[in-house]
Amino acid sequence: MTGQGPFILKYLPAILWLLLLTGTALCADDALSPEDLTKDEAMRLGERMYRDGILPSGEPMEAVVMGDIPVDGRMFTCDDCHQRSGLGSEEGTVITWPTNGRELKKPRRRTGAWRPPEGDTAKQNARKNLPPYYRVEDARPAYTDKSLAMALWTGVDPAGRKIDPIMPRYNLEDRDMAVLVHYLNNLSVDMAPGVDETTIRFATVITDGVAEEDRQSMLSTLQAHIDTHNSQNRHQERRATSGPFFKTEMHQAYRRWHLDVWELKGPEDTWPGQLKNFYQDQPVFALLGGIAPGSWRVIHEFSEQNKIPTIFPLTNFPIISETDWYTLYFSKGIYQEGETAARYLHAAENIAPESNIVIVFREGLESNALIRGFSESWRKYERPEPEYLKLLPGAEPTPEFWKETMKSSLPTVLILWLGGDDLANIESIAGDWELPRQIIFSSELLDYSFEAVPDFLRDNAYVTYPYSLTGENETRRLMVKRWLEVRKVPVTDLQVQSKMYFLGWMLTGAVKHIRSEFFREYFLEKFDMMNDQDYAIAVYPRLTFGPGQRYASKGCYVVQLTKGPDPELVKRSDWVIH
Ligand code: HEC
Repeated sequence: MTGQGPFILKYLPAILWLLLLTGTALCADDALSPEDLTKDEAMRLGERMYRDGILPSGEPMEAVVMGDIPVDGRMFTCDDCHQRSGLGSEEGTVITWPTNGRELKKPRRRTGAWRPPEGDTAKQNARKNLPPYYRVEDARPAYTDKSLAMALWTGVDPAGRKIDPIMPRYNLEDRDMAVLVHYLNNLSVDMAPGVDETTIRFATVITDGVAEEDRQSMLSTLQAHIDTHNSQNRHQERRATSGPFFKTEMHQAYRRWHLDVWELKGPEDTWPGQLKNFYQDQPVFALLGGIAPGSWRVIHEFSEQNKIPTIFPLTNFPIISETDWYTLYFSKGIYQEGETAARYLHAAENIAPESNIVIVFREGLESNALIRGFSESWRKYERPEPEYLKLLPGAEPTPEFWKETMKSSLPTVLILWLGGDDLANIESIAGDWELPRQIIFSSELLDYSFEAVPDFLRDNAYVTYPYSLTGENETRRLMVKRWLEVRKVPVTDLQVQSKMYFLGWMLTGAVKHIRSEFFREYFLEKFDMMNDQDYAIAVYPRLTFGPGQRYASKGCYVVQLTKGPDPELVKRSDWVIH
């Protein structure tokens, strides 16, 4: 920057305003539109500016912070501060105002001021009779395209107020500015489908092959939450129509909840069509819970493509992605056990990098997820690939198989990603050689039937275990049981029911916080921000939330088993292994 830079910047706002007033800075009419682009193209390019800090040319945007420090716009993207929805946030004392079309195009009222809707003359007149402190002037008038561009260029809003320097200034060419303004004008403008004046509609997806008991456990708890919400709402609804006029706005946020059940039947490749039909017949605001024995992929993709939030589906096979946004999972499912095995072995002092690791598995969704979780972490640690031994369909692991595996590979670590049935001949791994130092199992693959691991192996057996242990969270479990009892819901599967209890708990908070801003991105951002609510979860020691984080449980235990027919679990690792 030349010596003149700061000087010019200091006066830049004034100069630009002058140019604007004399009408020479931009085209004559007020609308700024990137005329050479289709609307969709402008939205796509604007979204990239907003979310990634990248100009339509592909170059990074240039931002100026704290007055005169130029920085790469990718470091401070609009959505880092204003959120993807554009509805902003309050954190401590910093208020990041909304920057979505709907809010920018209307004046911002001052706190405590009351302004009835445009055109409501009766209420406008009523306002005149209010005490002066309710009649204060707006904090700023509605933005026009030009004054919006001006605020982004200079940091001065149309009321002439200098915007807090935390908000960067952006050096953008006219056309790039037009693209960004077009994007902001169209960001979170129309309320999401699935909400009307009285009701928010949700659906839950259940696929073929779900046991009736699981289905009931999920549905009964979810429905109990919906009923609880609706019964509390009766007096809210009355207030919305009869409350004092200056409070009606607040109470108008209340909606009844309604839950549809979407059952997916037949082959998986017909599910996208079925989902589309359900949605067309009756749009919903979000999907809640849901349950599928197999992969969640089809529903995940439906949710992503249609920008419909899915909150806490019950699945062992979520989609693992760092960029997908619309599905919030409890955990990475079985993948997480594989990841944990890798972390644990990597941290173990007695497992040298060159140790021989053998993984025995059978082709299937479970072992694929475990292996993927394991190898993605293992590669990050730059450890050599383990040896994989795949059992062929129908082939039993015979005594010879185990002997051969031991003799030829002499594994230091043996990972057995197999079900209990496949352990029938496991005693043959003992011979005149040393047992592997660690034999790793997965709780999910053993179906939590730990007695399948024979006594003689237990000193060396380590099991990844993705839930709280007995004795942990007892009060939280009791709390869920009481809650169910009060609502006359039989306790059928406390694990499933605790998860749905937690979902409802979070949902209540998120719906309260979005007030009447029924935008789906905003709704999900509210879950991201509810990071202090995890005391309501009974089956995980801890859940964590954060912007864009989509797997709330970040941990998993490694346990050992005591001997005897009913083994107890003994903790051998922390919940989160670093
Ligand atoms: C580092 C955080 C941060 C980043 C990055 C950021 N903003 Fe802001 N922005 C703020 C804060 C804080 C305010 C409120 C400041 C005030 O009112 O004094 C604000 C205010 C605004 C306003 C004025 C709102 C009003 O009602 O007057 C607009 C418009 C805006 N930002 C748009 C954007 C856009 C577009 C981007 C990206 C190109 C962006 N902001 C990037 C923090 C940020």
